[in-house]
Amino acid sequence: GEDRSGDLTELAKRRGFFLQSAGAYGGVSGFYTFGPNGASLKDNVEDTWRDRFTVREGNMEIDAPTVMPEPVFEASGHLDGFDDMIVECPQCGASHRADHVVEDETDYEEAEALGPERVGEIIAEYELVCPDCGTGLAGEAVEDFNLMFETNIGPGSSSPGYLRPETAQGIFVEFPQLAEYARNQLPFGVTQIGRAYRNEISPRKSLVRVREFTQAELELFIDPEEDEPDLSTVEDVVAPFYSAEAQEADGGEPRELTIGEAVEEGVVTDPWIAYYLGVATEWYERIGVDMDRFRFRQHLSGELAHYAADCWDAESYVTGDWVEIAGFAYRGDYDLSKHDEYSDEDYTVFKQYDEPITVERPTVDPDMSYLGPEFGGAAGDVADALEALAEEDPDAFREAETDADGEGTVTVEVDGDSHEVPVGQTGFAVEEVTESGEHITPHVVEPSLGIDRALYTVLDHCYREDEIDGEERTFLELPAEVAPTTVGVFPLMDRDGLGEEAREVAAELRERGLSVAYDDSGAIGRRYRRQDEVGTPFCVTVDYATIGEARDDDEGEPGTVTVRERDTTAQKRVDVEALPETLDALREG
Ligand code: GAP
Repeated sequence: GEDRSGDLTELAKRRGFFLQSAGAYGGVSGFYTFGPNGASLKDNVEDTWRDRFTVREGNMEIDAPTVMPEPVFEASGHLDGFDDMIVECPQCGASHRADHVVEDETDYEEAEALGPERVGEIIAEYELVCPDCGTGLAGEAVEDFNLMFETNIGPGSSSPGYLRPETAQGIFVEFPQLAEYARNQLPFGVTQIGRAYRNEISPRKSLVRVREFTQAELELFIDPEEDEPDLSTVEDVVAPFYSAEAQEADGGEPRELTIGEAVEEGVVTDPWIAYYLGVATEWYERIGVDMDRFRFRQHLSGELAHYAADCWDAESYVTGDWVEIAGFAYRGDYDLSKHDEYSDEDYTVFKQYDEPITVERPTVDPDMSYLGPEFGGAAGDVADALEALAEEDPDAFREAETDADGEGTVTVEVDGDSHEVPVGQTGFAVEEVTESGEHITPHVVEPSLGIDRALYTVLDHCYREDEIDGEERTFLELPAEVAPTTVGVFPLMDRDGLGEEAREVAAELRERGLSVAYDDSGAIGRRYRRQDEVGTPFCVTVDYATIGEARDDDEGEPGTVTVRERDTTAQKRVDVEALPETLDALREG
């Protein structure tokens, strides 16, 4: 595949898709403004995501703040673990992602997993140089750099906050309330679409690595012991799967499989992940991603994020390289357990048993005054200590074996060590209680899609060049559903009432909810080209026949317009009255 990033960036700026932000002040890398066509394309793409991942899946969508207080990210692990490795050039002062410097120049594909020390050694071994000025980097310190943007909430610095590095945490922190909205019934899914921020060390490749971007995330909360997806709706979807095993094998290749086959053959082990790979494939195809330049790639073990147990990426081939456009992670109970531990809230759900069960639970004798050597031989407020222990970890009391008089032993686990303790000595008594259920921490399955990378992919994959009547043409073969404009409406010329008639046609189509571009300036061919370049699937031209003033029938029946189709440039005459229905039929394909 060729790298068309130059052409695309030029087209994107000229035609109002995206441009580097604040160019008047020199611009800052990693920030882009979507122009009128880009914003519209983005809206349409987001709408289709919402339709597929929220509406059709029966999930709930929320909208959380982009700034959150420090404790959220202490709990989530981002404060400690959300780092990239950085190396600074001693000569020109440029900062680089150390793992990229290594990966670009050596055969270490997953340098990120190796850690700063090893990456520093590799830089020395291979005598790697600064990508900007060519100065040797051997001996320079490789350090961890946290990617979160920090800010202060309110005046002073006593309340640090961070711009969210993923939308997901805004969902996790509100889990207790969201579970209520879902009436504590698992599984349930919560979606969110919004901005996320990462202070990337070296933003690059246009929209692909930026510092402010849009994520579209779904967090599905499941009971890992009970819940299973209904794979029947996606089992026939075909996609290329590039497993960790294939990546590690010499000459290993991605395999084209249906979702059903991928599960059956154990290529994708988690059925929920498999389900969303199917859903996502359908969605990417719908918005215009070329399936010949698309694949799913499993993470190698060293690549897994701090929270992930298994992870697949969706990747697209753009800018001459494979790029991650989405991540599908099995996050387990990592996030909810963390927020449960760090906050005062309960992040569990109560799971009702089919039948209530009777269990033996130790109770504490309040008169107890001695605790055995297993517990450090502490005397004093033993009952309090035990009570605290019982509350903190009810499962600490594993088993009680007692005879009819209540004599026997209790197995107690403290800090991972098991102790058999005589009932009399500990002051435990054993009580029979009936329980109707238990508290469980749901597990999380997460399809996390990047909108900017999806947009970039769609523009790249839909970019076409051909020749029409000896003239070169550039056009975007965007699906009608996401194209910024659905139909261009032109009068042949703005005179003899043709302009008025065309403006009326445009108004009528807008009434019907279509996105219409009216254009009466320049030669008609030029107007077609302008719409081709922004991916408008149809153009309607109003001429003398439309207003019943054609000189002969060769010019068209009275009351008709021409409809021109973008990809083939074929034109046909259509009754102006039937235009909305004709366009609907064409859009459906
Ligand atoms: N909640 C999971 C999560 O955030 P991630 O793989 O770090 O996972 C998910 O991010 C997606 O967000 C990526 O697949 C990518 O599409 C997008 N993304 C991440 N960093 C980005 C950046 N600097 N610029 C553009 N998109 C980015």
